[in-house]
Amino acid sequence: MLLLNLRVLVYPKGSMKAQWLMFTTLAFLASCSDTEEKQQTAQKTEQKVVHAGYDTYMMYCAQCHGVTGDGTATIEIDRPARSFIDGGFSFGNTVHAISKTTASGIPGTPMPPFAELLTDEEILNVAEYVRTFADVLPEATLDETEMVVENRPVIARGLLPSLGNDLETHPRGVMIGNPDRFSYEYDAEPVRLLAIRQGNFLRRADWGNRGGSALELLGQIVTTVEQGNPNPLFYTSDGTPLRTQLTATNTSGRLGTISYALMTEDGEKVGSVTEYCQPTTGVRTLIEQHFEIAVKDAITIQPNEGAILVGATELPRGRHTFKIIHAGVGGDS
Ligand code: HEC
Repeated sequence: MLLLNLRVLVYPKGSMKAQWLMFTTLAFLASCSDTEEKQQTAQKTEQKVVHAGYDTYMMYCAQCHGVTGDGTATIEIDRPARSFIDGGFSFGNTVHAISKTTASGIPGTPMPPFAELLTDEEILNVAEYVRTFADVLPEATLDETEMVVENRPVIARGLLPSLGNDLETHPRGVMIGNPDRFSYEYDAEPVRLLAIRQGNFLRRADWGNRGGSALELLGQIVTTVEQGNPNPLFYTSDGTPLRTQLTATNTSGRLGTISYALMTEDGEKVGSVTEYCQPTTGVRTLIEQHFEIAVKDAITIQPNEGAILVGATELPRGRHTFKIIHAGVGGDS
């Protein structure tokens, strides 16, 4: 019931305020056991704090982020909302950054977008109010070597750090950062998705004094593909793995794409692939890896362990689209 209503919120249609009221009423009913106590705390807080963002916070945020901003939800959500007291903001702690997160939400998490529900002024006020929960909160300064993704995708190439104790670094790595703040860590030789991250993009630590440094990836890992060392996806119809060779990356659309050729062991080209990734909107963090592929011979696909292939495993000669769905391993908010 609750989850259904959360979806209503996430796919806004019709009267937003009315839907929100329904959503919060249900949430309220679901949390009746400790409601009285929460209301008393709310009243106490109300007496000492008068802030322009207070009412908006109590009405639209407190049920997930807690009346005191401690991240204790009074409704059931599948991953914890951020505690604002600790001040650990992974999407930026400036009023501007918090307003942006509040307006657009965080795709793939329960954090809903408020752009259609609140005015710009209400969003600004509530963002300022959110900042008051932490005792000391120095505004994060951007290091000049940090690459920030704004309204367009950004792609960086360089040495990627190892994803685990016994795993290699990737000298030819490709990082795709999208405006929705998800980023994708690819090995370019061979081309394969290694991990999915969320948060800030990266810092060009390799541009500093220490030569040969890896890129410093700033996002938190949402999931790794086969523990960061995935097997090939594409095989000939007799089961021999196909090599993937990078041909292009592209940032002209809404989401960054990566393209590559499929080659046999003898260096014959059998097809070409373009892929991009996108989180679904909803209470679970699911990331869809979309593929567009053209092959001149039949091939087979072996989806990564733990991932779900939406499409056939045997592809005849021709053009096809399919997707592979990766599940996030949960937030560590
Ligand atoms: C339905 C539950 C829910 C509601 C309602 C909600 N949030 Fe969130 N919010 C979350 C969750 C969950 C996260 C953590 C997402 C993640 O895992 O990264 C979050 C994250 C955030 C962040 C990002 C913090 C960071 O790490 O940078 C901000 C800012 C934020 N919320 C502000 C708000 C504000 C302001 C409101 C009210 C206008 C609000 N939220 C309402 C669930 C909610």
